Amino acid sequence: MFFNSIKKFKVDDRLKHIAFIMDGNGRWAKARSLPRQVGHKYGAKAFEETVKNCHAFGIKIVTVYAFSTENWSRPENEVNAIMELLNTYIDRAKEQKDIRFVFIGDKSVLSQELRDKMIELEESTLLYDNVLNIAFNYGGRAEIISACNSLICEGVKEVNEKDISSHLYTSHCPDPDLIVRTASEYRLSNFLLWQCAYSEFYFTSVLWPDFNKKQLYKAIKSFYKRKRRFGGLIKGEE
Ligand code: FPP
Repeated sequence: MFFNSIKKFKVDDRLKHIAFIMDGNGRWAKARSLPRQVGHKYGAKAFEETVKNCHAFGIKIVTVYAFSTENWSRPENEVNAIMELLNTYIDRAKEQKDIRFVFIGDKSVLSQELRDKMIELEESTLLYDNVLNIAFNYGGRAEIISACNSLICEGVKEVNEKDISSHLYTSHCPDPDLIVRTASEYRLSNFLLWQCAYSEFYFTSVLWPDFNKKQLYKAIKSFYKRKRRFGGLIKGEE
């Protein structure tokens, strides 16, 4: 019964954009006495499955937090493993013919090889409707600072919300309707700080490598129970 309802399920336009803080890869590996890199490898599998599942449910825009500006402080072998996962993922992603890939974050400090591959993937998929934003070397505060600096360079004297939004890395899409964080952590960790102003949040104890279609469905069902007021009132509830 449950699986039948998942199979047929489609979102409506209340849920255009979902974002994920993919947490718990390290704990997943530790529980199995495996190196943290193995946790990230299984995390990458869960990520690919989740993107497919989101699109199967009809969600047009997906954003994932794959590597933060703070993640450089992790051991070198762990950082290298995540870089390599992205590298090999891009090779597979090139074959995908229905997703626009956008890397949000500062590419400038990444290796030339990785940067070139990221840009090539972005340019070659520009015209597809479904969007996958991969936050890589991303920090929400840095993003807002970069937007402000661009506006200053343009000679703007006074800014409004639209000006900031249109200079963020995510200017091509609406703000996330739902942000999901796994692994029992209840914070944003510098993710989409500006864009989350009216997002709904869903937290789960499931570790990211175990996040599957059923977990995604539960998160979406929870979203549909929320009353979104965007600071106003709902008709009939005044
Ligand atoms: C947080 O878990 C996860 C990350 C910092 C990396 C997320 C990366 C992936 C899911 C794979 C990336 C995929 C691509 C294609 C680049 P954690 O390591 O902080 O877990 P812990 O809190 O249990 O230690």
